[in-house]
Parts: sequence; C-alpha cells; structure tokens
Amino acid sequence: MDLSIGQREDRAVPRWSAWRRLLGCVLLLIGLVTTGCATAPAIFTPKGRAASEINQLWWLLLILGTLVFLGVMGYLAFALYRRPPTTALQSPLSPPLRTNSRMVVWGGIVLPITVLSVVYGATIETLRSLASVRTPTPLTIVITGHQWWWEVEYPEQGFVTANEVRIPVGEPVQIQLATADVIHSFWVPQLHGKLDMIPGQTNTFWLEASEPGEYWGLCAEFCGIQHANMLFVVVAEEEAAFADWLAGQQRPAQSPTAAVAVEGEALFWTAGCDQCHAIAGTPASGRLGPDLTHLMSRRTLAAGILENNIGTLGGWIANPQHVKPGNLMPASSLSGAELQALLAYLMTLE
Ligand code: CUA
Repeated sequence: MDLSIGQREDRAVPRWSAWRRLLGCVLLLIGLVTTGCATAPAIFTPKGRAASEINQLWWLLLILGTLVFLGVMGYLAFALYRRPPTTALQSPLSPPLRTNSRMVVWGGIVLPITVLSVVYGATIETLRSLASVRTPTPLTIVITGHQWWWEVEYPEQGFVTANEVRIPVGEPVQIQLATADVIHSFWVPQLHGKLDMIPGQTNTFWLEASEPGEYWGLCAEFCGIQHANMLFVVVAEEEAAFADWLAGQQRPAQSPTAAVAVEGEALFWTAGCDQCHAIAGTPASGRLGPDLTHLMSRRTLAAGILENNIGTLGGWIANPQHVKPGNLMPASSLSGAELQALLAYLMTLE
C-alpha cells in the first residue's frame, strides 16, 4: 500500500514540465506550419502596387485581430482570477451579481462596431484601388486556363505562347482571363491577388511589376488531379528587352537546315503532333496543346514543373503520362532515333 503511494508520487508531473511540453507542442506546430514558407510564393515581398495594397490590408487585419484576441483573453484571465469563490456564488445570502452596463456598451457595442467599420472601410478601399488603374497601357494579354497549363496570347501582336507571361516593368498591363474547360484561378502572389477563370466568362484585371524579375504564379482553384502542377512565370523586363522579346515572338518559325532536324520536321507531321500544336510559319495550327513556335525560348515545360532543355523535352515526349498523369498528351511510339530527330527539329524553335 505504502509502496504504491510512493510510486504514484514519483510519477507525478511537475507543473513546469507540463508548461514545457505545451511550449514544445506550440513550437513544433509553428515549425510544421512554416516549413512550406521557404519555397512558398512570397506574399510578404510584394513587387507591385496591387500586391502591396493587399499586403498592407493583411497586416492591418492581423494586427487588429491580434489586439482584439489579446484584449478578450486578458479580460477572461482577469475575470477568472477575480471570480468570487464558488461557495459565495451558491450562497443565497451572497449579493446578486452586478451587471457592468458600461462594459457592455463599450466592449460589446462601441468597440466591435469601430473595429468592424475600420476593417470594412479598409477592405472596400483596397478593392476600389485594385479595380482602378492610373496609367493604362495599350498592351492586353489574354490568358486561358487549360487542364493543366496556361495559354498566353498577345492578340494585338498576333502570337501565342504558354506558361510564361512577359510584361514591361512599371506599366499596368491588362490581363483578360478565360478558361477552356473547368474553373481555374490566376494568382501571382508578388504582383496581385487571385482572380478566377470562369467557363463562359472573361474576367479582366491589371498586372503591374515595380521591379524587373521573375515572379512565379500558380493555379489557386482546384481543377483536377494535376492542379498542383499548374504553374507559370511572369517575367517583368525593361522596355527595350521587352520590345526585343515581342519582336522575337512575332517572327514565324524558321525552317530547319540540318538534315536530322529536317527529318524531325517530317516526323512532326507523320506522328500527328500538328493535330494539337501550332507552329507559326507552318500549317500546324492545333490549339489543344501549347503553341510551339518559340518553344525553346521558354523557361519551363509542362506548366512550370520541368526545366526546358533537350533532356527533359525528350523525356516528356517519350512518356508525358509518367511525368504528369492525366494530361491530354499521349505517349509517343517513336523509336530512339526518331525521337532524336524530332528533338533536333524542336530545338530549332527558339
Ligand atoms: Cu487550374 Cu487548379
């Protein structure tokens, strides 16, 4: 009997140890939650007016929310600390509890209305500001979401590319968003908030980068099994570099000269690649897959998931379903030599 009591005392957990465990759990949770932040799109380093305004609103909401939370928890702790003993509460002789009407009016009515008015006003002002644009440029880019890649068209310049949006730095560019199939959502965290691409509808907004650079974007609406592999990049360039790029993209593809590339071009037709892909300057005009006119000028393949080089391109063509299961591109039945020839041709599409 005595022994068992002694054992129980040995096992008793000191209070400070419980606190330490709680602290450990909180730190572990923070660690787990922030693990993804290293590679996550940097919403806290905005590089455009719209993203800066969204970022400011986010901080305002966080600070107000934290102050309200701390205030309420402080009052709760104070009330628990100051509560009368249970016996006093239950005693018929104890005086009735007083209602603090000033507290109800200020804490229950005035303060919530003030805080919510500030939040509402700031949100409406941010929305109004995001919808307006100070110096519109004539450049319009039409972006169409597909399962699971982005078609990027410059209608006035007359060319189409994919998974890469180039804009001149410091100028608001009009973006028109559409979808070829299901709902997608266009999001470049460092430049702007999300905007959905809805079937049968075109949504318009402005994209502006304050500094040259590459800004990653992603699909922010679940759109099927490869939703997480639907990335793109916005490249913001100085005026001269951007003009060079535009001129390059407007040029039709050059006919190959090397024998192996000529053979590859013939395979492009016999293998049926032209059914789904377009190449300006040739009769290939398929719109089911990305335009390939300047394929090798792009940074990535398969909507941001592969670096674009001859090795990854060869792997992709040999078996796209292995790389990105569920996408529309079928595996090819080309021999090794044929694949090499086709790659030699595609490498000329710069
Ligand atoms: Cu497209 Cu998610």
